[in-house]
Amino acid sequence: MRLTLRVWRQPGADAPGAMVTYPLDGISEDMSFLEMLDTLNEELILKGDEPVAFDHDCREGICGACGVVINGDAHGPERTTTCQLHMRHFADGDTIDVEPWRAGAFPVVRDLVVDRSAFDRIIGSGGYITAPTGAAPEAHATPVPKPDADFAFEHAECIGCGACVAACPNGSAMLFTSAKVNHLNVLPQGAPERETRVLDMVATMDEEGFGGCTLAGECATACPKGIPLPSIAAMNKEWLRAARRGAR
Ligand code: FES
Repeated sequence: MRLTLRVWRQPGADAPGAMVTYPLDGISEDMSFLEMLDTLNEELILKGDEPVAFDHDCREGICGACGVVINGDAHGPERTTTCQLHMRHFADGDTIDVEPWRAGAFPVVRDLVVDRSAFDRIIGSGGYITAPTGAAPEAHATPVPKPDADFAFEHAECIGCGACVAACPNGSAMLFTSAKVNHLNVLPQGAPERETRVLDMVATMDEEGFGGCTLAGECATACPKGIPLPSIAAMNKEWLRAARRGAR
């Protein structure tokens, strides 16, 4: 495949950025999108140019490190992570725009790399449980109803990639935060912090500068793990319950 890439280049957080055009030839449809960027970088390095900086780790769709906006869509045209997107979803001769996540709470570090540490601070403010130290308890000692276990697992699938924020016209992190709140709040192990968790994580989300939710729904459409939009309603219910009980 022969492609024309237009890639956001920005040498540093405070430096101006711009789209730079690169022709690229010899791309296999079996390559992943990141392998295609690797090919571009090999060419840039051979020419003595700076390679394009982009984030990645597992390249298996599980760590959440990768993520770029491809032709205006978070993670591109398929509902998957950027590392799991393959070039067969593009056509020979295509022009592909590649940009970093665009959100005020995710400042650009360099090229396609953004600072997503705001997510870490949301997790740090409540994404944990109180557990006694010592040997692992007998699993059957804490029965969990099957619907609750399924609900928790569905929300625990969130990998924190940030596509929800990048896709949202408001730059909201409500889908991410709701996934993290809901997967612990529904379980007996998460009960001791059930109320403080939702209040603290939502407060941190607001402090970090994420936008408000207007139920545009773009977040759930972009989420590679299928976190559903009603997750936000479930978190709002938890927040109201905690606020009414005066947990803070
Ligand atoms: S590199 Fe880990 S999810 Fe893409």
